[in-house]
Amino acid sequence: MKRIVLGITGSIAAYKALEILRRFKKGGEEIVCVLTPHATKFVTPLSFSTLSGNPVVTGLFEPRNTPIHIELAASDLILVAPCTYNFIGKVASGIADDTLSSVISAAKSPVVFVPSMNTNMWENKILQENIKKLKKLGYYFIQPETGALSTNKIGKGRFPEPDLIVKKVYQIIAQAEATPLQGKRIIVTAGSTQEDLDPIRCITNRSSGRMGYEIAREALARGGDVVLISGPVEIEPPKGIEFVKVRTTKELAQEVLARGDKAHILIGTAAVADYTPVHYENKKIKADKLTLELKKTQDILKLVRKRYKKLFIVGFSLESNNVIERAKAKLKEKSLDLIVANPLSSLGGFETQITLIDRNLKLKKLPLLSKSEASKQIWDWIIKSRNEQLNAPTN
Ligand code: C5P
Repeated sequence: MKRIVLGITGSIAAYKALEILRRFKKGGEEIVCVLTPHATKFVTPLSFSTLSGNPVVTGLFEPRNTPIHIELAASDLILVAPCTYNFIGKVASGIADDTLSSVISAAKSPVVFVPSMNTNMWENKILQENIKKLKKLGYYFIQPETGALSTNKIGKGRFPEPDLIVKKVYQIIAQAEATPLQGKRIIVTAGSTQEDLDPIRCITNRSSGRMGYEIAREALARGGDVVLISGPVEIEPPKGIEFVKVRTTKELAQEVLARGDKAHILIGTAAVADYTPVHYENKKIKADKLTLELKKTQDILKLVRKRYKKLFIVGFSLESNNVIERAKAKLKEKSLDLIVANPLSSLGGFETQITLIDRNLKLKKLPLLSKSEASKQIWDWIIKSRNEQLNAPTN
């Protein structure tokens, strides 16, 4: 069952919204109707409350625990049908002076407008500019049809058939569900890094990069705007992805930090080299016996968290023993939002048996999975956890 806000504005086609409401109810959806003050001149709230089974919202200022517009903004979709010239202009200008425009101002879910008006108003350049602007910002429009208008003239501006509107709304919901990362900028780090001893040798590890590449591929499939920053690996990056090749920990840190302010989510699957030589030799080292002095590399995730407090950061942990306890400690120490604990057996392989750990140290153990299947489950979990965090009360 979906919760849909059905907004009705002051158009002669307002009565047709009742047909839309009936179809959604038949489909088992919960509908909350919001009428603008002008809409109440064309139709009565009583018809809409009777058919929806919910009180109709007309005012912003009724006393409540949660402001009504914030509560309704958290619905699965907002449909404005019919939508007037004036209402499109208001939303395009960022005005929120009634309940419906206020709901839209706070909405993160899809918003669909069904314009209905006189042909001259429809062809007005200001309206067309406003529609262009809103479409660019990700708002949906269902085009009016050509046919008989209320003035008995034939022209464009006619409200489309309710069946068509309902069908398109279900298509938009399905599309939004399939691409929950639409509009989200995601950084994925993958592979190992190399720390140079001399011009020829380096310290590194056996990471294949497969987990990170699968995570990036899945994020792309779910509509994300993904940049994959990778250390040297032998596999190909997913097609169509923004790909940045790095070699050292320092380079990886620079590339991540440069993108952190615009990103929404950072997934740190890279097996970063933890140690780097204290001295770099300019010439190839020649010695019968050699003792290396190493120091810790900079902790990229810690650095990023310090700079970008709001970024949702997911870390990965791979340990030979105390796998879960150590992953929990890293989550705290690096102030991560989530961490994925990997067993040693996953290093360089095609499969992994991971445990997902959230900020409350709640565990979710997964069975042995291919890295491709694991990446799907990891994304389901990240999206759910992030949504819960975004919707949590802030005070
Ligand atoms: O501390 P440890 O290396 O085990 O932590 C693993 C997590 O921290 C991974 O997500 C890895 O990408 C990240 N990491 C980092 N900078 C380092 C070492 C690890 O960002 N220098």
